[in-house]
Amino acid sequence: MHRGKGMKFVGDSRVTANNRKPNIPKDYSEYPGKTEAFWPNFLLREWMVGAVFLVGFLILTAAHPSPLEKVADPTDTAYIPLPDWYFLFLYQLLKYTYASGPYNIIGALVIPGLAFGGLLLAPFIDRGPERRPAKRPLATGFMLLAVAATIYLTWESVVTHDWEAAAKQGELVADVEIDTESEGYKLYEGQSCITCHGTDMQGGPGAPALIDVELTVDEIYEIMDTGKGAMPANAFEGSDEDQQLLAEFIDSLRPE
Ligand code: HEC
Repeated sequence: MHRGKGMKFVGDSRVTANNRKPNIPKDYSEYPGKTEAFWPNFLLREWMVGAVFLVGFLILTAAHPSPLEKVADPTDTAYIPLPDWYFLFLYQLLKYTYASGPYNIIGALVIPGLAFGGLLLAPFIDRGPERRPAKRPLATGFMLLAVAATIYLTWESVVTHDWEAAAKQGELVADVEIDTESEGYKLYEGQSCITCHGTDMQGGPGAPALIDVELTVDEIYEIMDTGKGAMPANAFEGSDEDQQLLAEFIDSLRPE
C-alpha cells in the first residue's frame, strides 16, 4: 500500500464518523499459509527470544557488576545525591533559583505538571485533522522545545556533577576491627583527628577513612605536621614519640 495515499486510519477520533465500517478482523482461515500454531511454534520462538535476552543480561551483569558503595549514612549532609539518568533533567531543574528553595513548588510541581498535563490534554487541545508535523506547528514546536529542554538539562546535570567527589564519597572502606583499648586509639581519641575522620576511623563527610591508607608510616607522620588538602597543618598536639605511635597505629589498620 502507498504510504499516506488511500490509507485509512481506523479508530482515529479525528476521522469523521459518516463512513465508518465495523472493525471486525477477518477470520484466520482467510490467510492461508500465514498462520502458525500457538503451541509449540509460537511459544517456542517467543521463549527462544526470551532466553537470548536472559543470557545477554546475565553476561552483562557478570561483566559489569553493579557498583557497590559503602553503607548509607543518613546523618551525612555533605553527601551529593544523584538520581538515575532518566530523572537527571528534573534534578537539574531543581537547581535553578526560581525552581528551588522557596520556589521548590514551581520546580517540583508547577513546571513538570504543566508539561505532563499538556501532554495528557494534547488530544483535546489540538483537534486539527492534520497529521504532518510541519502542518501542526504548535504541537511540533512544543514537542521539540520539550525534547531540547530535556536534553539540555540532562547534559547540564552531567557536566556539573562532581563525579570524582561522588566516587570518593561512596568508596567502600575495608572493615577493620579497631582495638579501642589500644594505646594508638587512645591517642587518636584525644586528638582533633576524631572530629573529621570519625570515631570508627571510617572517615566522614569531609575527610577520608584512615583505614588501609596508601601511605607509609613516615608519610602519615608528615601529614599530621603539614596537613593535606582540607586537613589543617599541625593537627597533632603532643610529643614526637606519641605522634610516631599514632602514625604506626594508623599504618597498622589493614584488612586481613
Ligand atoms: C579538619 C578536619 C581534619 C582533622 C582535624 C584531621 N584531618 Fe586528616 N584529613 C582531613 C582531610 C579533609 C583529608 C584529605 C585531604 C586530601 O586528600 O585532600 C585528610 C587526610 C588525612 C590523611 C591522608 C589519608 C590518605 O589516604 O591520603 C591522614 C593519614 C590523616 N588525614 C591523618 C590525620 C590525623 C592523624 C589527624 C589528627 C592528628 C587528622 N588527620 C586530623 C581532615 C582532617
